[in-house]
Amino acid sequence: MSELAMGGDELDAESLAHPQPMYKLLRDAAPVVQMDTPLGAMTVVGGDTEARHVLSHPEIFSSEMDAVKIGQVRPLIPLQVDPPEHRNFRKLLDPIFAPRQVALLEDNTRALVCGLISAVVEQRQCNFHAAIAEPLPSTVFLQLLGLPVYRAAEFIELKDGIIRPPVRTVAEREAYVAKTGERIYAVLQEVIDERKAEAQDDIISMFLHAEVDGHRLTEEDVLDICYLFFLAGLDTVTASLDCMIAYLAQHPEHRQQLADDPSLIPHAIEEMLRWESPVQGVVRITTQDTELGGCPIGKHELVSIIIGSANTDEGTWEESDVVNFDRAANRHIAFGGGAHRCLGSHLARMELRVALEEWHKAVPDYSLAPGIELLYSQNLRQVENLELVW
Ligand code: HEM
Repeated sequence: MSELAMGGDELDAESLAHPQPMYKLLRDAAPVVQMDTPLGAMTVVGGDTEARHVLSHPEIFSSEMDAVKIGQVRPLIPLQVDPPEHRNFRKLLDPIFAPRQVALLEDNTRALVCGLISAVVEQRQCNFHAAIAEPLPSTVFLQLLGLPVYRAAEFIELKDGIIRPPVRTVAEREAYVAKTGERIYAVLQEVIDERKAEAQDDIISMFLHAEVDGHRLTEEDVLDICYLFFLAGLDTVTASLDCMIAYLAQHPEHRQQLADDPSLIPHAIEEMLRWESPVQGVVRITTQDTELGGCPIGKHELVSIIIGSANTDEGTWEESDVVNFDRAANRHIAFGGGAHRCLGSHLARMELRVALEEWHKAVPDYSLAPGIELLYSQNLRQVENLELVW
């Protein structure tokens, strides 16, 4: 969700693939560090205690529009609405993504995964990102939202245009993202107009009749919710699946554990979310002069919370640099924390579990294709060249 995880700097391939040593260097310097970046003064938070403090004080560390600019023309709902108004939107949205609702999607998700796996299993090789990690969550999410699945490739290109724009300078990025944002609004408006004419059994149709705090959602509200969903729902599960399979392909003893005992998969998911932290960081902006970890921070300054660093902080986790699928308490912040904690965490966990269960059933023994050097993207850690053999 953040375009600024590491202060706006481009990282080298090794730091992208294995960011944990870089996180440690950051924490060793201080849990809170201030730096000048191409985007202005920024406070970078690598300590777990400090990260949780920021996430649980939205009145000082706001996620309003200036914190993250991803082509939106109004605040994204609910991410860029602070409490107390935020609570009203979550009251509407939480039940849609509650465990009981998510459970209803499991059979369909399993059928989708099995179909995708059976298309490649006999080939004894595949690009996991292209074959499974991208199509699975996109299909589940487009069906749920009510966007046409046959246009998935177009939607994926649009969200990539926001999250990974093919540009070099800050100015180029702003222009590209703004243009892509306009296209996303147009696509969503098209579907909203269709649903206004004829309602379907989907979330967009439901939103058009929903009330928040006694008021009907406006069409702009529906657009602002869907714009965020579009980005959050199409990218994060893909990135998480990439990170997990890339990890397992390179750690045969962990892979074997899951192949031997699938009941470990839910624990393994939490531990790999902690260790890999597919969303590397999130950003806030201060509403007043404040202080964090001994650092004074001025009003309206950016604060980048490095989730991956907090999740590997030795002050919080025993043997924080050991990946242990039997880890007992695992209160990582891979889904964020505080008021804006991820709305889609139950959906994400179900998709990840079903995908890992079915994959290991069909392909228990796999590794990276010989000679492949994995290329991770920054901030949201996708691995597009995830070539496997088995
Ligand atoms: C493993 C997959 C996922 C990860 C790692 C993840 C991570 C996160 C994180 C870190 C945040 C906090 C953002 C912040 O505080 O600035 C967040 C918020 C959010 N996520 Fe997810 N997410 C995942 C899947 C999903 C899915 C599938 C959806 C689809 C509904 C979703 C929807 C949202 C929404 C709407 C918010 C904003 C919540 C609010 O502001 O109240 N996420 N997510």
